Formats: sequence, structure tokens, C-alpha cells
Amino acid sequence: MPVITNIEDLRELARRKIPKALFEYADHGSYDQISLKANRDDLKAIRFRQRVLIDADNRSLATTMLGEKVSMPVALAPTGLMGLMHGDGEMLAARAAEAAGIRMCLSTMSICSIEDVRAATKAPFWFQLYVFRDRGFSESVIQRAQAAGCTALFVTVDLPMRGQRHCDLKNGLEVPPRLTLRNAFDIATKPSWALSVLMGKRKSFGNIDPYIKNKRGAWAAGAWANDNFDASLSWKDLDWVRKVWPGKLVLKGLLDVEDAKRAADMGADAIVVSNHGGRQLDGAPSTIAALPRIADAAGDRIEILFDGGVRSGQDVLKALALGARGCLIGRAYLYGLAAMGEAGVAKALSLIDNELRVSLSLTGVRDIAGISRDILFDTIEDRRNI
Ligand SMILES: Cc1cc2nc3c(=O)[nH]c(=O)nc-3n(C[C@H](O)[C@H](O)[C@H](O)COP(=O)(O)O)c2cc1C
Repeated sequence: MPVITNIEDLRELARRKIPKALFEYADHGSYDQISLKANRDDLKAIRFRQRVLIDADNRSLATTMLGEKVSMPVALAPTGLMGLMHGDGEMLAARAAEAAGIRMCLSTMSICSIEDVRAATKAPFWFQLYVFRDRGFSESVIQRAQAAGCTALFVTVDLPMRGQRHCDLKNGLEVPPRLTLRNAFDIATKPSWALSVLMGKRKSFGNIDPYIKNKRGAWAAGAWANDNFDASLSWKDLDWVRKVWPGKLVLKGLLDVEDAKRAADMGADAIVVSNHGGRQLDGAPSTIAALPRIADAAGDRIEILFDGGVRSGQDVLKALALGARGCLIGRAYLYGLAAMGEAGVAKALSLIDNELRVSLSLTGVRDIAGISRDILFDTIEDRRNI
């Protein structure tokens, strides 16, 4: 077993473990990947104030996200196809989240179903909804999430149409998938991955299959979803969601101050400042650059969660300093899942926990409530003003 010191180590293990098409599906962004890169670059550019001789004993990372107690301000972001990164991926990730005392948000486009995940964990989990043109699906999946005891619904609003990822087209990761000679060879050289997926409970989209019951198979469900993304999605649709979902409502994928204010006006419980991990509007700002303005404009009225480029506890601390209540991580845990299944997700979470704990101490902060912009040496905004 290699020594794993950071998320990049898990990324490298994942790269070797799973087929190239799947690795790049997870790793890459849309078009020229400008926003994907900006998410990382802008986080990296932020510097902390190093403070000394402040009693560093007994640091606590415990906090709440959406009013729920969590062991640290981190949750697993919804990601499609988790169950192809590793067989039963969603169930394994849910178990790792439960063991770590944090929440997972399950994607509409998951391989394991809501019910599979419910059976795999005793902990509450959240559900992410793509509002498809076929509202019958949305209504039925919302009911299933409710029946499974999901405590929050994350409606993803930054994907009325799908951004293009060049790698997916080149790798044949389309609907239906294109099996090239290179793909076939690649799969043949990844036997442990192939076995885990073969042994997994499902190979198709577990939330969609029951709805399109007459046409089973991954391609049917994938094609159905592709045809059903709703380019006409608007604020009035959220009023409809509000009516059918009685629990906590979170809008995922906001980057603009005006949209954040409107989300607060409509009574959403939280927003996720997100550019879908640089997978949608290429050329959109990094999420960390957008965060402080949104926090200033709406942070007193609505809970602000953050994602995009988080690969360490230091990144979590930076986002919290700039106004986030908590962070969602996407690729950071997907690399772990692809590399080592449940143990890999657990490893990703323990790395982030340790990094956050140490960084909290070295910035002289006792607990999560004590984090403020004061711990930053300068911010992206300061630099812009120079
Ligand atoms: C492979 C992959 C699949 C994703 N699938 C979904 C999805 O089904 N629904 C959704 O709302 N967001 C999805 N996202 C976006 C994530 O929820 C999250 O916003 C993003 O990964 C955060 O950036 P990070 O990966 O740099 O942490 C996906 C991201 C990745 C990397």
C-alpha cells in the first residue's frame, strides 16, 4: 500500500485504477476548462495569517450544515455515475460519510438508487434533483426521497443544458457509449475495477430505471435523461418544487449576487455557490472569487454552502473564512472512491479533517465559529483593489 499524503496521491491512484474514459469524465471540465482551472488557482492564491502562541489544545471541527450536526464543515457533493467509479459506489460513499459523521448528497444520476443508499446507511442523507421536462419523474423521485427520509433537497440550477466535455466525446463516453478498440483494451487492463463494477448491485441509473420501467438498460435511462434536461427551467419551477417538497430546499449552482438575493427572497434554506466543478459555463468565475460578494449580499438571510476545487482542509478553511457555512467536495472523494472504494473515501475525509485541524491551530482559531476573514493575509478582492 503506497503512502497517501494528500488528495493528489488518491488522484494518481485513481488514474491508474479505472479506465481512462471514466477517469477523465470525473477529472476534466467543460470546453477549454478555464473555470475548472480558475477554481484551483484562485483557492491556491489565498494566503493565511499565521498566528502564534495561542493555546492550540482541543480544537473542534464540529458544526452544523442545514441545521444538522456534522463532525466537520464538509459534505459529499452529488456526482453522477459514482457506481461506475467503483461497484456500489454510492452505497460505499454513504457509509464512509456516516462513519466520518458528515452528510452525503445523492445525485439524480446515481447508479445505486435512493432506496439502495437508504438500506446501506442509518444516517440521514440529502438528495439532489435535476428538474427534467417530465415533471412526473421529478414528483415521483421527490416522493421517493421523502420516503427514504432525505432531510434536504438540492435542486441543481446550473444545468438547463449540458456543457460539453471534449474528453467524453473523444473517449466514446456518450449515450449510447461507443466501444472503441482502445476502450476495450483499457478495460481489459483494469480487472479489479471491472470485477467491482460487475459485482455491484446495479449497472444502470437506479433512480430513473423504475420510472421508465418498460425500457430497461443503461442506455435507455441515459438517453431518457439526455432528452429530458429542461432548458426552460425558471424561478417559477422552483415554486412548484417548493409545493411538492416540504423539507429543506437548497439551490445548487449559483454564482451571481442577484441570483443569491432572489434565492433568499423566495425562501430557499440555502444555496451552493458552485460552477458545477467547472463542468458547465466555461469562462464563469471561480467559485472562491464569487463567494465573498454573495456572502456580503445575502449571507445574513440564507445559508451559504460552497464547492469547486476543494482538495484540502486548507481550502475548506479559506472558503469558510470568505463566508461559507460548509463545503461540498466532489472530485476529492471520487478519486478516493475510484482508488480504494469505501476506504478511499474515508481516507480523503481523514486527510481533509487533519489538514483543517492543523490549519485551524496555526491560524489561531479555536473552533469553526471562530473563523472569519480576519484569518486571511489578503483576499482575492484585496488583490483586485491594488
Ligand atoms: C464526475 C462528476 C459528476 C457530477 N455529477 C453531478 C450531478 O449529478 N449533479 C450535480 O448537481 N452536480 C454534479 N457534479 C458537480 C458536483 O456536485 C460539484 O459541484 C463539483 O464536483 C465541485 O467541484 P470539485 O469536484 O472541484 O470539488 C458532478 C461533478 C463531477 C466531478
